[in-house]
Amino acid sequence: MSTTRTQVAVIGAGPAGLLLSWSLRAAGIDSVVIENRSLEHILGRIRAGILEQCSVEELTRLGLGDGIAEHGLTHHGIHLQFDGQRHHVDFHALIGRTVTVYGQQAVVADLVRAHREAGSEIVFEASDVSLHELTTDAPRVRYVAGGAETELTADFVVGADGFHGVSRPSIPGLTTYQRGYPYAWLGILADVAPSTDELIYCLHERGFAMHSMRSPEVSRLYLQVPNDERIENWPDARIWDELQTRLGVPGWTLHEGPITDKSITPMRSFVSARLRHGRLFLAGDAGHIVPPTGAKGLNAAIADVTLLARGLADHYAGDDGRLEAYESEALGRQWKVQQFSQWMTELLHRAPADDDSAEFQYRSQLGRLAYVTGSRHAMESLAEQYSGLPL
Ligand code: FAD
Ligand code: DHB
Repeated sequence: MSTTRTQVAVIGAGPAGLLLSWSLRAAGIDSVVIENRSLEHILGRIRAGILEQCSVEELTRLGLGDGIAEHGLTHHGIHLQFDGQRHHVDFHALIGRTVTVYGQQAVVADLVRAHREAGSEIVFEASDVSLHELTTDAPRVRYVAGGAETELTADFVVGADGFHGVSRPSIPGLTTYQRGYPYAWLGILADVAPSTDELIYCLHERGFAMHSMRSPEVSRLYLQVPNDERIENWPDARIWDELQTRLGVPGWTLHEGPITDKSITPMRSFVSARLRHGRLFLAGDAGHIVPPTGAKGLNAAIADVTLLARGLADHYAGDDGRLEAYESEALGRQWKVQQFSQWMTELLHRAPADDDSAEFQYRSQLGRLAYVTGSRHAMESLAEQYSGLPL
């Protein structure tokens, strides 16, 4: 077994791990990123699409803003559609803030390019990743890569390995808080110009639908489906028919095009009661998951990493205050994000027909949507939370 050393061992080369390693580099701190999938796999993953204003500012501050400035689409608000009518909520007019459409895939590609140019150490296709001696001041990570077993000793280990990673299960006796939802999202990418200027979030009698986008040529659309639904039941024509039914309003046309990707994503809300165990810190989906409505997952990962990078930089400068405060600050912020994501989800999805209160809930949701779109105070609250809490 070979042995090696770094200051911070980062598990996972998703947006959280790659960004943390990049921030640490900017602060003069060494790190090694260990990822169990291939580079090709992580570059191909289609996920989030919306960056909060603070996320854009943080990525730009770290020298990662060129792609966003060139290809990002600045949106001043969103459309909320219900009862057959579309209402625009103008965040910029309400509170002077915006969001940016820029795919997670592009964020990851920008990070990989920057790391490559800088010569960072990222180990791909590492198997048998395991964490050891986390409560000592010399925690270790063992893994196998290229057929060889390696033991990496570090000052700190950061678990940025997503919901299914090894880091969170390495915390003994951990309490977690979670809930599921009786529905999932069927998402498509289509080679067709978006039919809308800004995102449409729609509650229809038949369920939620959303029209998002990736570029002036590529649309991203989602449909609420039952959570045990199979993608084989959804040939392209059925997907477009359902999108036409749910999103349609008089005088507006949803343009169809070739579907290049389709998948079903389950929904869950999840928070780990702890984000620290000795010298292990959790960041991003390793520590918490939100349902996708409201687009908070990637942004929460960026927020965690921003707080953690500040804490680690201060630690190496001799001040542990912000590192000690990481867990409580990140969890405090996360619970605000959780309640917003839960609120947006319950506002916009139709309860299943076998739920006794489904009809009551639907009418109450319409009342809530009418309130939100009719009250400046409520719209400001939505705008503040959607465009992102300060970091
Ligand atoms: P991940 O992206 O999951 O990265 C974790 C990495 O760790 C992966 O590369 C994984 O391969 C690696 N790994 C796992 N196990 C191990 C191991 N044992 N050893 C080493 N490496 C390991 N969020 C938003 O903010 N806005 C949106 O619009 C949005 N839309 C979404 C739409 C969909 C369809 C989905 C699925 C998610 C969406 N999200 C959205 C959520 C967002 O994609 C996630 O929150 C984000 O990917 C979290 O980043 P992360 O780096 O923490 O975790
Ligand atoms: C997208 C995903 C979301 O969860 C959301 O709330 C808005 C947009 C997207 O993939 O474009």
